Amino acid sequence: MADVADFDVRINPSILAADFVNMQAELARIATADFVHVDVMDNHFVPNLTFGPQMVERIQATSPVPLDVHLMISDADRWAPEYAEIGAASVTFHLEAAAQPVDLARRLRSIGARAGVAVKPATPVEQLFDVLDEFDQILVMTVEPGFGGQSFMADQMPKLRRLADEARRRGSQVWLQVDGGVGESTIAQAADAGADTFVAGSAVFGADDPGAAITALRSAAASAHRH
Ligand code: DX5
Ligand code: ZN
Repeated sequence: MADVADFDVRINPSILAADFVNMQAELARIATADFVHVDVMDNHFVPNLTFGPQMVERIQATSPVPLDVHLMISDADRWAPEYAEIGAASVTFHLEAAAQPVDLARRLRSIGARAGVAVKPATPVEQLFDVLDEFDQILVMTVEPGFGGQSFMADQMPKLRRLADEARRRGSQVWLQVDGGVGESTIAQAADAGADTFVAGSAVFGADDPGAAITALRSAAASAHRH
């Protein structure tokens, strides 16, 4: 039986599933979360458009929890630092969208943010193995980025497991995040494969009681995490 108390599970609700015109009230509903996950989309890197730095700055000013910004935008090298400057606790860019990912991660850290890198389902993680220490979190997408409410891709679990094994082998402290289709019926698979940070949009904001949904996800992840 796993001792769940010594394992940190982070639950980051995605406001993509929130009511955008009631953002302040929506944020108040997730005060027990660890971070609020903020999906920035540019209609170029992904076929959907959300919001930019001005909106993120307002969310930052209103949120009861720190921001976990997920940039699904092209030319991350150019734009990502702006989100760190706003004060986001964590800024994650896509590996596929960055020309110099290590330089960019260093820049984000120098501004004071946690530096994250995300990989789409078809992108291998092995290229990150030698530079794990340059990042504070690695996001393994469990859907094609662009939209909420899609089905969890269980076929990403072997990739996540390889990454978790490598991180452990190297004694890395990097957080391993999953995003897309994460809910009460799928979170255990990701925790078992080694994830410790979980993004959930519809599973939290679609629930009658988001606080209870966060608690349920947290406990399902903690019981399933392999030690
Ligand atoms: C998808 C976004 C996700 C999305 C997750 O491109 O990155 O953060 O909001 O939504 P659910 O949890 O509904 O799959
Ligand atoms: Zn996301």
